[in-house]
Amino acid sequence: MNSITLQPKRGMRDFLPNEAKIHLYIIETIKKIVESYGFSPIITPLLESLDLFKRSVGEQSDIVGKEMYAFVDKSGDDVCLRPEGTASVMRAFLNSPLSQTLPARLYYYGPMFRYERPQKGRYRQFDQFGCEFIGTNDPRHDGDMIVMASRILNQLGISYILDINTIGTLQEREHYKKVLVSFLNDHHDALSIQSQQRLQTNPLRILDSKDPKDQLITANAPSILDSLTPETLHFYEEVKNYLKHFNIPFQENSRLVRGLDYYSHTTFEFKTKALGSQDAIIAGGRYDDLSKQMVGKSLPSVGWAVGVDRLSLLCDQSKISPTLSIAILHLNQPWAAYELCENLRDFGVKSLVITHPNLKKGIQLAERSCDYVIVIGDEEIKNQQLTIKNLKNSEQYQTNYCAKDIIQTI
Ligand code: HAM
Repeated sequence: MNSITLQPKRGMRDFLPNEAKIHLYIIETIKKIVESYGFSPIITPLLESLDLFKRSVGEQSDIVGKEMYAFVDKSGDDVCLRPEGTASVMRAFLNSPLSQTLPARLYYYGPMFRYERPQKGRYRQFDQFGCEFIGTNDPRHDGDMIVMASRILNQLGISYILDINTIGTLQEREHYKKVLVSFLNDHHDALSIQSQQRLQTNPLRILDSKDPKDQLITANAPSILDSLTPETLHFYEEVKNYLKHFNIPFQENSRLVRGLDYYSHTTFEFKTKALGSQDAIIAGGRYDDLSKQMVGKSLPSVGWAVGVDRLSLLCDQSKISPTLSIAILHLNQPWAAYELCENLRDFGVKSLVITHPNLKKGIQLAERSCDYVIVIGDEEIKNQQLTIKNLKNSEQYQTNYCAKDIIQTI
């Protein structure tokens, strides 16, 4: 019989305990912060109807056009693994009684799937943690979402550059598209092949092309800001004022159009210099018309998602506080050892029983998984006294045979 491949599929990863711990630490940290801003959890399926993303993210976007894990299921429906969370959350929200009470602050986390070319910081299955503030047209809320995101990066010890922009309303964008296409047509032959194609399908995306040839041309392209109404510019000003008020450093980048069709007004990206080309760590914006694609009615909203995998590559791991861990090594007293472990766990301490006939080898085993070891034998039980050994520096302490006293001694 041929053995099966043990490697995960390309772009998918196994997280062994050390990596998984960092991943979960990041999720826990974000969760605490977003809950302090009033966000509540929502969980949606990994599998959705393909149409949901075609309509919302857009058929011409790279995500839908090239990267979907899409297939026909056994009942003949076109389905896909979700490539992002915003469309799913909006779908679930509109389908629920939550939509009767506005606004709603929702957060989610979990795997997303995009069939991209894998590289450092870019995977085919990756975790996003996202927040969606649904039912608000207050620019202060755009600012609040950005401040919240920056608090997360500060807490994790990750430095960032924040780019912000406004892409206005649909009508304003339609006008700008014409201006832009007319400018780019004059440079058609000098554009990359991909941008020449995008000129027909999705011209705004040419603005954030990474190709140096395109960048040279778009550096002189007309700015979207010149196609915006005073109302839109005022909204943008209010968002910037909020950021200034809270001392959030940002740079304006009028070429930040984002790759998903549902955005309007504010767009933003927190970037890092430490991950090469995969430099976006938190990205989002306003999406006032997303619900219109689903139910025909606009519902102003703003949100962002963070790439948890990218944060794990950047996170200051020394910030992860180790949990107190004690190994109970016994030679012939299993019941006493298991009981003491249970008592220690009542205080939230990680404790493990180690059974080994050889004291030295038993201590070596303890060193692999714990910071302290306590050896239990007949003497300890008879005298109700224990010795705790610090496995890092070999210091020893005496204590009563009691979980509470053990913890206080350490
Ligand atoms: P996005 O820019 O496509 O936006 O993704 C958000 C973040 O997910 C990125 O900044 C990046 O950190 C991470 N990410 C994306 N693709 C990958 C990948 N292949 N591997 C690893 N990490 C990745 C959205 O998905 C929007 N739904 C964000 C949003 C929420 N807008 C409003 N609300």
